[in-house]
Amino acid sequence: MSSDSKKTLRLPRRPQPSTEDPQPHPAKSGARALRARTRTRQRQLTEPVPPQRRASAASPPHPSIQHPQRNQKKSVQRSSSPTKETTKQLFTVFAPCPQGLEAVLAQELQQLDFEGVQKERAGCRFHTDWNGILRANLFSRIATRILVQIAQAPVRTPDDIYDLAYETEWEKWFGPRERLRVDTSAIRSPMQSLQYCNLRVKDAICDRLRAREGARPDVDTVRPDAKVHLFLDAHTATLYLDSSGESLFKRGWRYHKGAAPLRENLAAGLLALSGWTPQKPLLDPFCGSGTILIEAAWIALNAPPGLHRPFHFERLRNHNPRIWKRIKEQAISAIKPTLTTPLIGADIDEQALAHARDNLLRARLAADNIQFIPMDARALPPTPEAGYIVTNPPYGERLGGQAAEFWQDWAAHLKSHYDGWNVNIISSDLNLSAQLRLHPDRRYPVYNGALDCRLFQFSIRGRQEHKPSQQSE
Ligand SMILES: C[S@@+](CC[C@H](N)C(=O)[O-])C[C@H]1O[C@@H](n2cnc3c(N)ncnc32)[C@H](O)[C@@H]1O
Repeated sequence: MSSDSKKTLRLPRRPQPSTEDPQPHPAKSGARALRARTRTRQRQLTEPVPPQRRASAASPPHPSIQHPQRNQKKSVQRSSSPTKETTKQLFTVFAPCPQGLEAVLAQELQQLDFEGVQKERAGCRFHTDWNGILRANLFSRIATRILVQIAQAPVRTPDDIYDLAYETEWEKWFGPRERLRVDTSAIRSPMQSLQYCNLRVKDAICDRLRAREGARPDVDTVRPDAKVHLFLDAHTATLYLDSSGESLFKRGWRYHKGAAPLRENLAAGLLALSGWTPQKPLLDPFCGSGTILIEAAWIALNAPPGLHRPFHFERLRNHNPRIWKRIKEQAISAIKPTLTTPLIGADIDEQALAHARDNLLRARLAADNIQFIPMDARALPPTPEAGYIVTNPPYGERLGGQAAEFWQDWAAHLKSHYDGWNVNIISSDLNLSAQLRLHPDRRYPVYNGALDCRLFQFSIRGRQEHKPSQQSE
């Protein structure tokens, strides 16, 4: 490719819409045509996809202990179940998220009209009624799960925890037929064994259900129907019911993971931190299995991320399928008919791109909603209109001994061709801006799993140079 041709994006012609993935026809206008396009898009995003639909034949499958008297009940706070009378009851909810995304999760929850949203470490707390819990599961792109606070009390010993769990009305939520899993986490808890505390909760739930209903639930850590979470801090035990089940980043479309895929809720969080909006072009020059771009397409279409997955609240006693259906139907009716945002991914690995294309189709998107280009990031031309790069490049060790040279080449390419672009890079290399010789506008600390990373944000302005001093965090 000549250096001239790098200045504007000359992309392969968009493929014609396939009959399998009908695309709204851009030429038609008017209210009827718009309604038809909306129906097509809603149908497309809601119909089931066969488990192995492929884009190409080439890709192989693939929480301070006060010290109450034992059985002190005064300060115990409990919540009751989602019966008709209690649908308007307010629950305290904790939505965990990857560390570093608390502020954007809080924004998202406020935009979803939740009240009393408070940022905490690795999550947000808010209050809502039971229908709000269903909505949070369906709509949150950034939360990892939605935990409903059921009981809380000061505790001093594992026996206090047993008492708290035994006195909680689990039978309003589930019974002996549901398979049970209990998880425990703690911050500054003086309990000697978290495993033993976990066991006490499980025993208490089983003992209560056996006493009330004549049988106890089986424990199943792999495929539970009911998940209870015990959180301990220095003085208090809190019991949560996990309304989500599987983590919310599992949207239900990923078939191919690729080499080092980002979790979907981290991708959504990075997009939110970057400031990208669907009015601007988005490029991921190291797109791998396409997570960032697929997430962006769903954001641009206003498609709810939980549309195609099951939730644990559906298995709880008193679940109201009619209300759930209505919430989903309202969400479907708000899906946009067309995707006009230029979304472009590149990768030097053809296999990664084959996976990205498969994932695209399994995410119920049309083949041409995202353009995947086999190309080295150091040659990828920009779109005519400046936009955003949000990307997760390979980390140092994957680049071998040529990392320094690689980053300088890519930075030179960005300075030459991406004037006016906003570039966002997540990396565990905390020295990345020095390697790129670019001065970051911001460095957001974020965790990718257990990996301490930064989201570096650069504004590309022609031939800018790295100023080592003023880095903000
Ligand atoms: C950490 S992975 C990206 C994972 C991606 N975010 C996902 O969720 O699947 C980095 C990707 O960069 C690609 N890559 C490595 N060197 C490249 C280069 N010079 N140009 C473009 N892509 C490259 C790799 O093939 C790999 O797919």
